[in-house]
Amino acid sequence: MGYKELFESYNNDGIEFGVMPMRSGLFRRIVEVVPEGSTILEFGSGNVTGLLSNIYNMNSVEHNEDWCNRYKSNYYHAPLVESDDETKYDTWYDTSDGRLFEWIGEIEYNALIIDGPGGDENHNRQGVIQHLHKMKTGIWWFIDDTNRPDGRGIVDYIKDNFDVLHEDEPDGNHSSALFVCKKGEGDKFALIVPDMSFDEINEQETRL
Ligand SMILES: C[S@@+](CC[C@H](N)C(=O)[O-])C[C@H]1O[C@@H](n2cnc3c(N)ncnc32)[C@H](O)[C@@H]1O
Repeated sequence: MGYKELFESYNNDGIEFGVMPMRSGLFRRIVEVVPEGSTILEFGSGNVTGLLSNIYNMNSVEHNEDWCNRYKSNYYHAPLVESDDETKYDTWYDTSDGRLFEWIGEIEYNALIIDGPGGDENHNRQGVIQHLHKMKTGIWWFIDDTNRPDGRGIVDYIKDNFDVLHEDEPDGNHSSALFVCKKGEGDKFALIVPDMSFDEINEQETRL
């Protein structure tokens, strides 16, 4: 199933594409560059989880029980906790018992989506910054809501600490970003080339 079919199935669910929880441009980009059958790890689940589960193996970290176990995804329910004062990252998923990253460590994911926790403008999802070094590199990382200060903070951190092959703003309003990162030797990060060249991606985009 391609982007168009998924798009249509979303509309058939009676949900306006323009008000989908994830930015439509980011959703489209994910479907464009992540091959069908891939495994995705996401922070923050919602209706798009259900859509993506049509073509991907989904794994969702979710704080709100109401948004757990709605769709075909492996859910990890992690309540939100205050970060300690030093980090100043506000609330993030509870990692205190070590189980969250044990769970993540067993997933062979090919793409990472950061779209949670949160729901309001003031919600701070920068807590992920403390854990980015544990995430798989050399895969696509998708960050939503980069027009907000917390989202922009994640982008700035990635740019400062990882070598990034590509960043784009598919909505054209600086609301989402896409990266490919690879850990190099030592603390350095090296660039990688994705399976699909940017010419191919652009060509595909104009065909849509
Ligand atoms: C931006 S949403 C994540 C949305 C998810 N990535 C998607 O695109 O479907 C962040 C948090 O809001 C909650 N949430 C998800 N879908 C929602 C919706 N339609 N309305 C209100 N809150 C939602 C969930 O607790 C989720 O972790």
